[in-house]
Amino acid sequence: MCGIIACIADDRAAPILLEGLKRVEYRGYDSAGVATIGRDGILVKKDVGKIAQIEARQKLSLLDGRIGVAHTRWATHGGVTKRNAHPHTSCNELVAIAHNGIIKNYLKLKKELELKGHKFKSETDSEVIAHLLEEEYKRLRNPTRATASAARKLEGQYAFVALFQGRGDLLTGARNDAPLLVGLSERKRFLASDVLAFIEHTDRVIFMDNLEVVTVTDKDVRISDLSGKEVRKEVTQIAWELADVSKLDYAHYTLKEIEEQPSTLHRALIQEEEKLASFVEVLKSSDSVFLTGAGSSFHAALVLKHRLNIEARIRADAVVAGEFASQSHFMNRNSTVVAISQSGETADVLEAVKVARSKGARVLSIVNAVGSSLVSAGDHALHLNCGPEVGVAATKSFTAQLAIIGLVLDSLTGKETSLNGESLARRVKETLAVRERARALAKRYRHRPDFYFIGRSVHYPIALEGALKLKELSYIHAEGMPASELKHGTLALIEEGTPVVVLNPGDETYDDTLSNAHELKARGAEVIGITDRANKLYTHTISVPHVAESVMPILEVIPLQFLAYYTALERKNNPDYPRNLAKSVTVK
Ligand code: G6P
Repeated sequence: MCGIIACIADDRAAPILLEGLKRVEYRGYDSAGVATIGRDGILVKKDVGKIAQIEARQKLSLLDGRIGVAHTRWATHGGVTKRNAHPHTSCNELVAIAHNGIIKNYLKLKKELELKGHKFKSETDSEVIAHLLEEEYKRLRNPTRATASAARKLEGQYAFVALFQGRGDLLTGARNDAPLLVGLSERKRFLASDVLAFIEHTDRVIFMDNLEVVTVTDKDVRISDLSGKEVRKEVTQIAWELADVSKLDYAHYTLKEIEEQPSTLHRALIQEEEKLASFVEVLKSSDSVFLTGAGSSFHAALVLKHRLNIEARIRADAVVAGEFASQSHFMNRNSTVVAISQSGETADVLEAVKVARSKGARVLSIVNAVGSSLVSAGDHALHLNCGPEVGVAATKSFTAQLAIIGLVLDSLTGKETSLNGESLARRVKETLAVRERARALAKRYRHRPDFYFIGRSVHYPIALEGALKLKELSYIHAEGMPASELKHGTLALIEEGTPVVVLNPGDETYDDTLSNAHELKARGAEVIGITDRANKLYTHTISVPHVAESVMPILEVIPLQFLAYYTALERKNNPDYPRNLAKSVTVK
């Protein structure tokens, strides 16, 4: 969703900000803009559309000044219009701001500010921050104190960055429940919502916490709480290589991210023993365990639930993050919540963690983004280490989550590990050979209106994941379900030629799932078997290597990722940026 990048540069800021905007494009947006402080004051250019189109029309990169802020907006309050795009300025252009989040009390603040004579130009909640800052700055004559004072009046979720007319030497910002971080290079300073926005300039980062205010100059970075008390912060070195965020020679990030899974899985399995042990200890000592996540991460939570129940005999409930509050009555100090998230910033997941905390429960997280809000909100975190995932649809992060779940299970059950990094990487590499087969199926079924995915036991969440991938990337209606549920409704929808993907490896679910495949075939379905045990029944077979049952979900999802990717291409969709979707859903 929305992205912010601001910088104090040693030369013109606008080209750097434009590059930063391109790097946060993947989060999803519908308009964008840049504000700088030029010789004659604050300059703003913004518009709706993609960054390349806006640049072609407005020439954002030509704005003058060595300090500026830029924003990609994903509309919430107010339509997709140029006026509603950020940055927003106060009435006399004394202040310009970019904001992520939602200001809950903006109508009240707006009324108060209008009574003081402020004229609003947009329909957004964000614009109140610009006017409020102007009022506070006029009163306090100090940008830092003005920012803290404004932040004290805001209710809701925010990360914002402000520029002040005549103060071409500093940026201020504040955060509450939305990410904001400081990037430090030798000659430049950054404030951004996402480390990717400035990773080509520096890997030295300060992560801000909630209700903190930052003031950045080219000499200094000061962080304080909202009362003005200085807070000492650590500088973290981010290990991600810049290569990880480039597309290399791939046509799309999504394809690159699918194909790099042998190495990302290998990395996911490298976890500090102590951290893993503490994570597992908490699980073992809990009276009740709750699992949560959204989208693909929720499907990983379902895999974890299945494996905890069956293999570790730990009863765990998995509840989708947006519905998690319903569980609060069952939580107490002896409960544990495992929150799974690639970004660590999904609003529903963070809210679920708040609910858990309010009941005294312990919080474990499985997360990719280092320094994300979820990591700070929890007690112990295991990191996916799969590098930045740019494609909106989760691919490598999902399999990394499954790999970490495998490590946790091995450690809980004390079994000889089924997950050796090198052999897993080899198996995954072999599985990537299904690419051409999946591409041919994408071509064959590209015009079908519906697709179904079925699987039993631990393969059921993978059926859900296959359907989600196809919906996200191809815009074809798809449903995933337990194979056992077919007969209770969905079979009525099967017609001559309906494609059904059947996840059917040769484990103890094989015979029952095969019976379901027979039922489908008898009603005209074209059955696509994903399996390590071929059968003549299948209209098409995608063979995956034979591996332990617990590892199979990691392999069998790969053909489904390719199928979704190539169907998107067949239908002329951009698989990296599917319509209406955002990579990181930071609003409820
Ligand atoms: C969005 C993304 C999905 C992702 C979900 C959860 O919907 O488009 O790909 O699975 O958010 O994101 P998280 O970062 O919490 O894993």
